[in-house]
Amino acid sequence: MDPLENPYRPGAGTPPPALLGRDGLINAFGVTVRRALQRRPGKSLMPIGLRGVGKTVLLNRFAEIAGHEGLEVAFIEAPETGDFRTLLAVRLRKVLLELDRKGPAKAVLRALRILKTFSLTLPDGSTIAIDVDALAGHADSGVLSEDLSDLLVATGEAAAEKAGGLLLAIDEVQYLSGEELGGLITAVHRTSQLNLPVVLVGAGLPQLPGLAGEAKSYAERLFDFPEIGSLTANDASAAISIPAQQLEVTFSDEALEMIVTEAHGYPYFLQEWGYHAWNHANATPITGDDVRSVKPLVIDQLDRNFFLVRFDRLTPKEKEYLRAMAELGPGPHRSGDIANCLNVRVESVAPRRSALIIKGMICSPAHGDTAFTVPLFDEYLRRAMPAWPSSQ
Ligand SMILES: Nc1ncnc2c1ncn2[C@@H]1O[C@H](COP(=O)(O)OP(=O)(O)O)[C@@H](O)[C@H]1O
Ligand SMILES: [Mg+2]
Repeated sequence: MDPLENPYRPGAGTPPPALLGRDGLINAFGVTVRRALQRRPGKSLMPIGLRGVGKTVLLNRFAEIAGHEGLEVAFIEAPETGDFRTLLAVRLRKVLLELDRKGPAKAVLRALRILKTFSLTLPDGSTIAIDVDALAGHADSGVLSEDLSDLLVATGEAAAEKAGGLLLAIDEVQYLSGEELGGLITAVHRTSQLNLPVVLVGAGLPQLPGLAGEAKSYAERLFDFPEIGSLTANDASAAISIPAQQLEVTFSDEALEMIVTEAHGYPYFLQEWGYHAWNHANATPITGDDVRSVKPLVIDQLDRNFFLVRFDRLTPKEKEYLRAMAELGPGPHRSGDIANCLNVRVESVAPRRSALIIKGMICSPAHGDTAFTVPLFDEYLRRAMPAWPSSQ
């Protein structure tokens, strides 16, 4: 098929040609937004899941919906290294300047002044151009939870004054420090007590509920953590067939079944399979033989584009830890079992495990459990490091 017309979009955060299997969450989010605009803010949604399941795409969809409903949107990808507070200040500045353009308002000016005060407490804050006088005594205590509360309350009031609201969408929430996450939770708790039209959504890896609970014990009453993952067989099949149908191309039943099975229903994998099957096929319908022919190419692409990027940043010892996990299967695994597989004591590999968690390679969905953050990573590792245990 014509590669120029190829509808599939393997990538990070790239909107899929058909967004399947997320209607429930999208509807729930719409209700949250409309309730917030009526000054009845509810629980924040924090979809959690492995890499490549569509969290960023979903957050972007949420942002789009909120924009349509008249909310100002601050979208932040929490940095793995770098200063979250500065990013937040920069995004809120944009929001407030946008509100300011809609006509002068007292609450907007006040929020800008508080943002100025806050920004001056940041390492490079003086470079953030905010052309108002700081409002001393607000958002400058140095206690992050207090300062974020001052800032979000003032921004929420500013948005409310313009009959709008604020959506704070944060991707990769697991990269926030405990202090940052705790501060955000406190701030949103405050805005919801004041019935301000502020909505927080986030997305992150499956350890998020645990991190939030550690940061603030009441987090579970403020957040819903719906798990998103692979699509059902029907949705996965539709994710492949619908975009093609729109271009008057079909897949044979066998081709669809093979792709769904090979991709295990995972959104990123589906896009990669669809993309290569499309480019390979000469005519419609795209057949099982087409899918079979592209298998080596798809696996190679997945290895290079999806798995290797993460694997390459690891030390040999870290790779060895992961390889031991892979030996045990897809997981999650008990930390003790992994240590056994490596023939070492649990305590001696604890630093390696922590480093891998920080690098986002593994996570701890429940106490003592260790899981890969990427679907099918165990299969990849067995491919990439076939020699085991001789690699020790
Ligand atoms: N619901 C879905 N249906 C079909 N494809 C999807 C869906 N969600 C995401 N995708 C595709 O999956 C890939 C990964 O999405 P992304 O949002 O980056 O995942 P994550 O943020 O969880 O790592 C992208 O290529 C995207 O187009
Ligand atoms: Mg993402």
